[in-house]
Amino acid sequence: MADHYNFDAPVDRSGTYSMKWDKYKGKDIIPLWVADMDFLSPPAVRDALIKRINHGVFGYTLPPQELNEIIISLMENEYGWNIEKEWIVWLPGLVTGLNLVCRAVGKENDYVMTAIPVYPPFLTGPGNSGRNLIKVPLIKIGDSWKFDFQHIEKSINSGTRLFLLCNPHNPVGRVYERDELSSLADICNKHKIVISSDEIHCGLLLEPGKRHIPIASLSPETADRTITLMAPSKTFNLPGLGCSFAVISNADLRKSFNAAMNGIVPRVNTLGYIAAIAAYRDSHDWHAELLDYLRINRDLVLSAVNMMPGLSSQPIEATYLAWIDTRQSGIEDPVKFFEDAGVGLFEGREFGTPGFVRLNFGCRRSLLKKALERMATAIKKHAGDIF
Ligand SMILES: Cc1ncc(COP(=O)(O)O)c(C=O)c1O
Repeated sequence: MADHYNFDAPVDRSGTYSMKWDKYKGKDIIPLWVADMDFLSPPAVRDALIKRINHGVFGYTLPPQELNEIIISLMENEYGWNIEKEWIVWLPGLVTGLNLVCRAVGKENDYVMTAIPVYPPFLTGPGNSGRNLIKVPLIKIGDSWKFDFQHIEKSINSGTRLFLLCNPHNPVGRVYERDELSSLADICNKHKIVISSDEIHCGLLLEPGKRHIPIASLSPETADRTITLMAPSKTFNLPGLGCSFAVISNADLRKSFNAAMNGIVPRVNTLGYIAAIAAYRDSHDWHAELLDYLRINRDLVLSAVNMMPGLSSQPIEATYLAWIDTRQSGIEDPVKFFEDAGVGLFEGREFGTPGFVRLNFGCRRSLLKKALERMATAIKKHAGDIF
C-alpha cells in the first residue's frame, strides 16, 4: 500500500495543554510516558470535526444511531460478535467505565480481582468503590506474560464478585489466545464472577497473525457475565475527546451499571461522537498505515532495549507501549535515571510492579531513535560505572 500519511512529520504539541508534553515543559526530556500518540488524527476525523465546529451550535447531543450501527457492524465483521443496539452504553471515558463496573457489581467490602502489572485505574477503581482488591501477578513463561490460573483460583474467596481483565493487556502487550480467555471465563463462570473486559487497545494489534477475541464472544454464558469496555480513543488517537462505550448484554447488569451512572456521569460530548463516526467508518487506510508504522517502532524499541545492559523487554503483540524490566540493571529509581538522561517513562510501581518502566513508542521515529540513543548512552555509562 502506498504511504498516504506522514507519521514522520514533527507535530509541535506545545501550547495545547498536552498532559504528555507539559509534564516536562521547559526541560529537555522526551516524553514517552502517558498513552497518547504524537500523530495527527486521521484526516477524515479532522474534516468531520471542522465541519461540525463550523456549524457552530454545540447543544446537548444524543448518541447517533448511525454510530451504534457502525459499532454493531464492526463487532460482527472484525470479531464475529453479534451485539444489539440496546446493549451499548455510551461513556465519556473508559476510566469512568472501570470505576462504574466496580460500583455496579456486588457491594461494599466485596473483592475485585485483577492480574498485575496492569493499567493503574484497575488498582484504584476497587478502593474508590469500597471494594477490596486481589492482585494476582502474571507469570513470565519463556518470553510471554501469562495468567497464573492456579494462583487465580486459589485467591478467589467467597466475596469475590468481579475480575478486571485487560485485553490486549496494558502494559505487557499481550493479546490473549482463545484457550487463555476460555480458561479465565471458565473460572469466572464456575465462581459466578462478573468479568469487566477493558478492550480499549483492540484496534492496535501489531502481530500480523493475531486476532483480537472479545471475551464476551466466547459463549452466551460468558457474555451474560461480561461488561466489555471499548473506545476509538487509543487506535485513532482521540483520548482528549472522551468518547467510549460499554457493551452489556445482560439486562440486570446493564441496569446496575446505568444505576451507578445516574445523575453523575455526563453525556459524551458532541465532538467525541463526530470523531468516533469518522474514525470507525472512514479511517481504515490511516489505521492500516498506523499499524505498519508502529510495528517498525516496536521492532526498533525491542532490539534497542534488549541490547541495553540490564534491561529487557518481551515481544509486544499489541499497543504502542513497551514494558521494560530494569531489575537486572542495579538502577534504584529507573524513572529518575531516565529523566536525568532526557527520557520520560512511566513508573512500573503504579502498575503494581516496581522495577519496570513503560515506554510509549507512539511518536515519530526520529524522536524515538533520539530517546533510545539517550537511554543507551546513559545505561552503558551506568553499566561501565558499576562493573
Ligand atoms: C487499558 C486502558 N483502559 C483505559 C484507558 C483510558 O481510558 P479513558 O482515557 O477513556 O478514560 C487506558 C489509557 O491508557 C488504558 O490503557
